[in-house]
Amino acid sequence: MDKRPVGVFDSGLGGLTAVRELRRLLPGEDIVYFGDTGRVPYGNRGSGIIRQYARQDIAFLLGRGVKLILAACGTVSSTYPPGEAAGLPLPYLGVVEPTAVAAAAATRSGRIGIIGTAATIRSGSYERLLHALRPGVSTMARACPLFVPLVENGHIAPQDPVSSLVAEEYLAPLRDAGVDTLIMGCTHYPLLAGVIGRVMGPGVALIDAGREAARAVQERLAAGGLLNEAGGSVRYYVTDSTDQFAAMADLCLDADAHGPVEHVPIEQIAALEPDFGGPAHR
Ligand code: DGL
Repeated sequence: MDKRPVGVFDSGLGGLTAVRELRRLLPGEDIVYFGDTGRVPYGNRGSGIIRQYARQDIAFLLGRGVKLILAACGTVSSTYPPGEAAGLPLPYLGVVEPTAVAAAAATRSGRIGIIGTAATIRSGSYERLLHALRPGVSTMARACPLFVPLVENGHIAPQDPVSSLVAEEYLAPLRDAGVDTLIMGCTHYPLLAGVIGRVMGPGVALIDAGREAARAVQERLAAGGLLNEAGGSVRYYVTDSTDQFAAMADLCLDADAHGPVEHVPIEQIAALEPDFGGPAHR
C-alpha cells in the first residue's frame, strides 16, 4: 500500500483518456494530472523540444510527490529516451508498449493501422514493437496532425461535421487498405472515437492508447505493492486557462472525475532544468 498519488501528464487534454480509465480501474488512487495546455501541441515539434518539455513535465510531477509517472502522451512516449526513463527515481510508463501489445493481440488479419502525431509516426515506435511482437504483421501508419487541435477545441461529437471531414481525409487510405485493427496512438484520439469508428466501419477494432496505458499502470502498481484503496481524488494542473480545461474535462470525463484545476505559470515549467540521465542520454 502506497498512498502517494499517481502522476499523469500530457501536452493537453489527451491524457484524460488515461485518467478516465484509471478512475474506473483504480477508484482508490489519488491522481495528479499535468496538462501542458500552454504549449500544446507537442506532436508537430522536433524531438529535442519534445524531450525538453517531457523532462520539465516529469520534474513538475516529481515535485508533487507522486509514486509513478505515466506519460499519457504518444508523442512523449515515442520520443523520451528509454535510457533516461530508466534512470528516473520512480517507475515511469509510456503508452506505446501496452497499446502495441493490445493491437497485436486484437488483429486477426495481421493488418494493423496506426494513427498518431507527426512525431510519433516519424519515430516508428509502434511499428517497431508490433513487428517484434508479431513477426509478419503488416502495418500502415498515418499522421493526423489536425486531430489534436480539433479535440482541444471541443469538436468531439460523433457527428461533428469538421472532424468527420478531416477523419475521412486521413483515414480513407487505412480503411481502403483493409486494416482490421487501428491503433489510436495519440491519447487525444480516443476522444474522437465516435467519428473515427464511423469512418473506419464496424469491423475495425479501435485500440485506445489511454485505456491500455491505464491498464499497464494498474499492473505495475499491483506488481510493486504500490496500490492505494483509500484515496480517490484527482487534482489537475494546467499551463493555460483553467476554465477552458475544466469545461473540456466536463465533456471528456464522467461527472465523478472532477477535482480542482490549478494554473501553473508556463515560465515556472520552462525554468525547470532537470538533468535525470546526464549527457550520455541526450
Ligand atoms: N496527446 C498527445 C499524444 O498522445 C499529444 C498530442 C500533441 O500534443 O500533439 O501524442
